[in-house]
Amino acid sequence: KNEISIGLLGLGTVGSGVATILQQHQQDLHHKLGVPVSIKKVLIKNENKERFSTLDPSVFTTNAQEILNDPSIDIIVEVMGGIEEAKQAIEHALRAGKQVVTANKDVMAEYGHELLKLADAKKCDLFYEASVAGGIPIIRTLEDGLASDRISSLMGIVNGTTNFILTKMKQENMSYEVALAEATRLGYAEADPSADVDGVDAARKMVILSSLAFSTEVHLSDVLVRGMKEIRDGDMDLAEGFGYTMKMVGSSKKNQDGIEVAVEPVFLANSHLLASVNNEFNAVYIYGDAVGETMLYGPGAGSLPTATSVVSDIIAACRNLLLEVNGKRLHAAQHDRVIKSANH
Ligand code: HSE
Repeated sequence: KNEISIGLLGLGTVGSGVATILQQHQQDLHHKLGVPVSIKKVLIKNENKERFSTLDPSVFTTNAQEILNDPSIDIIVEVMGGIEEAKQAIEHALRAGKQVVTANKDVMAEYGHELLKLADAKKCDLFYEASVAGGIPIIRTLEDGLASDRISSLMGIVNGTTNFILTKMKQENMSYEVALAEATRLGYAEADPSADVDGVDAARKMVILSSLAFSTEVHLSDVLVRGMKEIRDGDMDLAEGFGYTMKMVGSSKKNQDGIEVAVEPVFLANSHLLASVNNEFNAVYIYGDAVGETMLYGPGAGSLPTATSVVSDIIAACRNLLLEVNGKRLHAAQHDRVIKSANH
């Protein structure tokens, strides 16, 4: 192979960040991989929308099939969001033998196990680093970095929007509504921000992280989810008065009966490492039998941080293509039982 072509599905917050990084870091990528990598086609929804991207408009199309059926495209990058259409596009790409990179936590939480099996069967890779905690390489850490350890618990601030809202309410006395509007303006919130504030976005991310950490199939229905609505007036002041901070926390832990996964507002002692994670930042705190405590921290949402993870996945997909080892990632066998009664 002497060049690698990408088909980008979506040019929203994440997609435009991916285009920017691929263009600005073009020389570095060429140097790292030994071949040029370029965007060949981009799926857009609306031809008439004004765009700030420096991509040549001749690469734009409103027809996904034109990209998915293009034999010269090696890697499909799905950053269009939504569930069904995105899932179909990923399946189509894998069936056509293409490498796939996605940032889609909704699809990965719901259909990840199925899609990873399809990728294995088709000898393709499906990378999804950007689906959890934007710019933090948490998927790789669980798949590779800590592969040698036995993880006993994992705790994380994995939704940038709610963490931003709670930080602004606490530090700047901002109202919930104004803070949410600001998180939306900055590109942190979901298209429908109820997924953020109701805890569902974080729950989906905990499904992905817990499945990896405990080598099992966790489903959304296994997760106890309590959203920001559970926070009552006065709770934040009460927390502050006693040296605590209110945070939306995802947790996943192993006990003798199985795995328990939850997302809920939690009073964290100010001395806890997660209590000082503010604004749109995310952090994942992991306890492994051998490694002990470890924590990863970084931006959890936003265009360029999330795109960093997507582009790192593109590099991984390129390397596997160039080495002809795509589809050789082994997915973990299942061995941990998930406690299903969490919501009752
Ligand atoms: N709405 C998400 C968040 C975006 O606020 O964390 C990143 O997944």
